[in-house]
Amino acid sequence: MIAVLDFGSQYTQLIARRVRELKIYSEIFPYNVSEETLKERGIKVIILSGGPGSANEQKSYQPDKRIFNGDYLVLGICYGMQIMGRIFGSDISKGSVREYGRTTFYPEKDPVFEGIKEPGTVWMSHYDVVENVPEDFYSIGKTDTCPIAAFRNKKGTFYGLQFHPEVIHTEDGKKILKNFLYNIAKLKPDWTSSSMVDAAVKEIKEKVGTSKVICALSGGVDSSTLAMLVHRAIGENSLVVFVDNGLLRKDEGKEIVKRFSSILNMRYIEASDIFLSNLKGVKDPEEKRKIIGNTFIKIFEKQAENFGARFLAQGTLYPDLIESTPAFGGPTAIIKTHHNVGGLPEKMKLKLVEPFKYMFKDEVRLIAKKTGLPESMIERHPFPGPGLAIRIIGEIDDEKLEILRDADAIFIEEIKKAQLYKKIWQAFTVLLPIKTVGIMGDMRTYQYVVSLRAVKSVDGMTADWYKIPQHVLDKVSNRIVNEVKKVNRIVYDITSKPPATIEWE
Ligand code: XMP
Repeated sequence: MIAVLDFGSQYTQLIARRVRELKIYSEIFPYNVSEETLKERGIKVIILSGGPGSANEQKSYQPDKRIFNGDYLVLGICYGMQIMGRIFGSDISKGSVREYGRTTFYPEKDPVFEGIKEPGTVWMSHYDVVENVPEDFYSIGKTDTCPIAAFRNKKGTFYGLQFHPEVIHTEDGKKILKNFLYNIAKLKPDWTSSSMVDAAVKEIKEKVGTSKVICALSGGVDSSTLAMLVHRAIGENSLVVFVDNGLLRKDEGKEIVKRFSSILNMRYIEASDIFLSNLKGVKDPEEKRKIIGNTFIKIFEKQAENFGARFLAQGTLYPDLIESTPAFGGPTAIIKTHHNVGGLPEKMKLKLVEPFKYMFKDEVRLIAKKTGLPESMIERHPFPGPGLAIRIIGEIDDEKLEILRDADAIFIEEIKKAQLYKKIWQAFTVLLPIKTVGIMGDMRTYQYVVSLRAVKSVDGMTADWYKIPQHVLDKVSNRIVNEVKKVNRIVYDITSKPPATIEWE
């Protein structure tokens, strides 16, 4: 395992993910994690992330200096390179030209750059520059305006890169990381989906010991995979709780019970009345999310008490975390309260078990394949914890829920028929809180508007709107206005994320 120390870069999680893609396990630690902790975890290789701070300031963020005592191999990226330079005696200053975006990089011959394009394109994002290399270090690459765009020490144990190898815009970024991990650090690529399963099972076992656990199942790939793993880890000591909150898609509850009741120790709770009455009259999206989170927790706490559980297992993913809370204590902005993270009450009796919290959906899908879940579940589009509540804009009621369920079922059916389902990351319908005038059978209508939303994404953090062919849109529009009562207008959401988010609330 390697450690990525987080100095607040927006790319920190991307570094950890790239390393895992290279089949080496990585975890993120705060920038000032103690050397004892790293030693305890058996870590020998460390990557220092970039960050918004300036290594030039007196009070700059500094790692535990003992990581440079010779026991560790360290790669510093951007701020990580600058702070390494400063610790070893470099002068750091504001560069005369700030480099931002695609930049031409001229590498020197070095094992870390083996096989990369010379010169090649790298992604830069910095003001500060390393003015001079420290003693026992030398430069291994430059750009047109930055003479020390990469350095290393003579021993080859400390490397610094001013650019970001973790972003896709750096042409050979992955190759550079690969060279560092395989050729310099001599790590073996053994982090496969099977080892991910073993590690998650081990983590669950270690965390809960002989205590009982309840596992929140929504039927999506994350919670389903987690339920299978928790069952594998502790068997009958786990109880899977599926709550029908009245905010599910058409026939979803029935399908989930059919799929899991025979293979897991499962309890089905019908709670739509409680959820819908708690949401009555509520329009604000954040308020809805918090009410749903609180209502869920109350139900889970009661179930846990009956079962004697002290832990609640949830399939929280990294994007849920990063958009809901500053994940590593950094200044990350809160975009929305994902119900299984920020929507939880502060004082909660249950302790959380979240083995996927630093993973992305595609990583969980890899794990899912090893748990015996069918392909149809693994490839299922993500569905948010607050369900249809955040796809009915404004106030929710039974009538709107029914309209949305029917419209959504048609949209998905047509997308599947057109063989588009797997190409699209997520597709759904949204019910708008307005009515518009239409004409049907020579009669004036005054009915709801449904929006279609379909996006392409890798991890839900950014997304492009999906260009569904016109004949498919045409069919969907026709079918919805003809088959779903009280809808007379269909619109298509053509915004990407950013500036929009995937869900409307
Ligand atoms: P946004 O709307 O933030 O969504 O662009 C990104 C991804 O996260 C899903 N999402 C949620 N998932 N609980 C979840 O488990 C939530 O509260 C939640 N809110 C959004 C969303 O469907 C998309 O896949």
